[in-house]
Amino acid sequence: MSDVLLRMRGITKEFPGVVALDNVDLRVERGEIHALMGENGAGKSTLMKVLSGVYPHGEYSGEILLDGEVCAFHGISDSERAGIAIIHQELALVPQLSVAENIYLGNERTRGPGLIDWGRTAAMARDVLGRVGLDEDPTAPVSTLSVGRQQLVEIAKALSKRVSLLILDEPTSALNEAESDNLLRLLLELKEQGITSILISHKLGEVTRVADSVTVLRDGRTIETLSTASGHVDEDRIIRGMVGRDLDERYPERSAEIGEVRFEVRDWTVDHPTQVGRRVVDGAGLEVRRGEIVGLAGLMGAGRTELAMSVFGRSYGRYVHGTVYKDGAPLRLHDVDDAISAGIAYVPEDRKELGLILEDDIRRNLTLAGLGRVSRRAVIDPAREAVAAEEMRTRMRVKSNGVYQTTGDLSGGNQQKVVLGKWLFAEPDLLILDEPTRGIDVGAKYEIYLIVQRLAAQGACVLLISSELPELLGMCDRIYAMCEGRITGEIPRERADQESLMKLMTMTKA
Ligand SMILES: Nc1ncnc2c1ncn2[C@@H]1O[C@H](COP(=O)(O)OP(=O)(O)OP(=O)(O)O)[C@@H](O)[C@H]1O
Ligand SMILES: [Mg+2]
Repeated sequence: MSDVLLRMRGITKEFPGVVALDNVDLRVERGEIHALMGENGAGKSTLMKVLSGVYPHGEYSGEILLDGEVCAFHGISDSERAGIAIIHQELALVPQLSVAENIYLGNERTRGPGLIDWGRTAAMARDVLGRVGLDEDPTAPVSTLSVGRQQLVEIAKALSKRVSLLILDEPTSALNEAESDNLLRLLLELKEQGITSILISHKLGEVTRVADSVTVLRDGRTIETLSTASGHVDEDRIIRGMVGRDLDERYPERSAEIGEVRFEVRDWTVDHPTQVGRRVVDGAGLEVRRGEIVGLAGLMGAGRTELAMSVFGRSYGRYVHGTVYKDGAPLRLHDVDDAISAGIAYVPEDRKELGLILEDDIRRNLTLAGLGRVSRRAVIDPAREAVAAEEMRTRMRVKSNGVYQTTGDLSGGNQQKVVLGKWLFAEPDLLILDEPTRGIDVGAKYEIYLIVQRLAAQGACVLLISSELPELLGMCDRIYAMCEGRITGEIPRERADQESLMKLMTMTKA
């Protein structure tokens, strides 16, 4: 007999001009790991915000039953009291506060009114950190931890509140492979302890590995729930549910026409900003030819992002040495403006920090890096800007209500598409992509690959940084690997495989 912990029935949630959820049903059994999948903008995050009271009762229609009881949450604290904890797509820790403070924020241990018992708080924090396998000092500021560890602190925080239903919205999208493994193992462990989880993820591999069932959403509707027990959870089946058709190939076919060397980076060194004598990039050199898609593989901390950011002028001149050549001539790259004038574009991995102005509308974000194209005598022509932005929005399949919607209101994956569209709009000669498909659904990934290939076919140079080796292998003509700031080797497409890349990615100095 099944034992249902959660039922959401006929949930409908509208935003001005958008029906985000349209009569959605979700049924989660006690003690299972239930995955929620669907394309960017399908409504996954919204459904979980309804469940956790971020959107209070009355702002949606439909019914939530937890343990058979009807719930009407008026805020997050109501759902927490009922045993629900949510870890949002964007982490919500306070960076300046310590680990312990973050765990007990708003829920501090006290010794009498207004007196926080720091001794007990730290001891309890250590205890709950142990449960997620962290041996971190509870008094360390959260900002000193890697994203993977911060994610675990979020889970520790949830555990400290006696959670029975844990919701994780794309918890592994910013994690490396080892950290993701660690997190998934923890989920399985928590399951053993009787904790039910809902896991939102775009990574089919991890879903098929840990989930007991999968509910697929498309355009705000429930398509189906598949269960492992019935043997129905396989990647192709999930994809079909998500995009409504079979996706035969994950990477588009391509016949590259590669020309002469256009960009060359020589003896590139970036000093560590605070640790004297340490180099985050150490004498790196690489070249990219006309029409070529070049990959950059490496583990977390290998220096790939530092290399890309510094070439793009984002690393404060004094710490950077080396030369970039374009068509054989050295470039003067002191800041981002120099880089943009030289035809270089960089799509950062962290869209919130560097990629977008969230308060601005889609149109302004899309045209920002190429205002010259929509201006007449240095004055923006609003009509031209709107037309061009709409064209790019359609090309990128950004799910929104036209180009005047506030970018911050878009789903996570659609924000990522806007960042990418922004730099494509600038029509760069060298496009550097740093984890461009992180948090992007499978169907949209394919679209992005097509767009990148088209750009290369028009003669642009592409440098693709990715932690997903299959993506590098599927997309690149040649792949460089980095380890500890150095380029440890390069492999042409024909000879590249995961194993040979891994070898170079772990080739340390000693
Ligand atoms: N605050 C908001 N205001 C207006 N529209 C919103 C708001 N939040 C979400 N939406 C819209 O609701 C729809 C569903 O968004 P949601 O964030 O739930 O998608 P998602 O499935 O989580 O996508 P992703 O995989 O990209 O994270 C989208 O069309 C989005 O633009
Ligand atoms: Mg989301």
